[in-house]
Amino acid sequence: MGKFSIVTFMFFSLVITTAYANANAQEQARFQNLCRGTEKTTTLQIFIQDVLGGDNPTVWEVARSSITADSPTSFGQVRVLDDLITAGPNKTSEKIGRAQGLITSADLENSALAMNLNFIFTGGKYNGSTLCMLGRNPLGNAYRELAIVGGTGLFRMARGYAITNTYSYDVETSYGVLEYNIYVAYVKASNRRSVNM
Ligand SMILES: *[C@@H]1O[C@H](CO)[C@@H](O)[C@H](O)[C@H]1NC(C)=O
Ligand SMILES: *[C@@H]1O[C@H](CO)[C@@H](O)[C@H](O)[C@H]1NC(C)=O
Repeated sequence: MGKFSIVTFMFFSLVITTAYANANAQEQARFQNLCRGTEKTTTLQIFIQDVLGGDNPTVWEVARSSITADSPTSFGQVRVLDDLITAGPNKTSEKIGRAQGLITSADLENSALAMNLNFIFTGGKYNGSTLCMLGRNPLGNAYRELAIVGGTGLFRMARGYAITNTYSYDVETSYGVLEYNIYVAYVKASNRRSVNM
């Protein structure tokens, strides 16, 4: 490497570092405004189209344990899903996003899932925002509660819970519709000018 290229390299390193520091400072100010913001609450009712069979399933097995086939609870089965979220129960009703993530059969005695799902909103007033849901889903119960542990976009700093139940299930086509009522608190950024904290 000649003298010229070393100087050029140092110059561009400085430009990149400065640009990054500026972007960083902007994001930091945005974060500080968010931390001084006010908590808002909202309730969302969504429906998830859970297509387990047929020509275009949206739930797929990715792994199973050596005991899954003989287990009454399918223990050890891991599935990945990318389900459509609609505003109403009918699959033709307004599309508002996707539910994506992993579900693991994680109970040796009862049918229960360990869930790790992201709700990605692509329409309606939450377009561009996401919610992150984790928890245990005891499939035998009519109403199941899971934790909302975070979010992005409008749902930054989100926390809350979701109550779910099976709205309908067609055994012939392995087509389920799941209702989720989500109770969530999130933070709306303060408009006050940023000050050093
Ligand atoms: C869903 O909507 C379609 C058309 O809008 C209608 O034909 C169908 O009966 C509806 N299905 C249910 C289960 O309501
Ligand atoms: C959602 O937001 C994206 C990106 O801003 C935009 O392109 C799209 O048209 C929006 N969709 C709806 C249904 O509003």
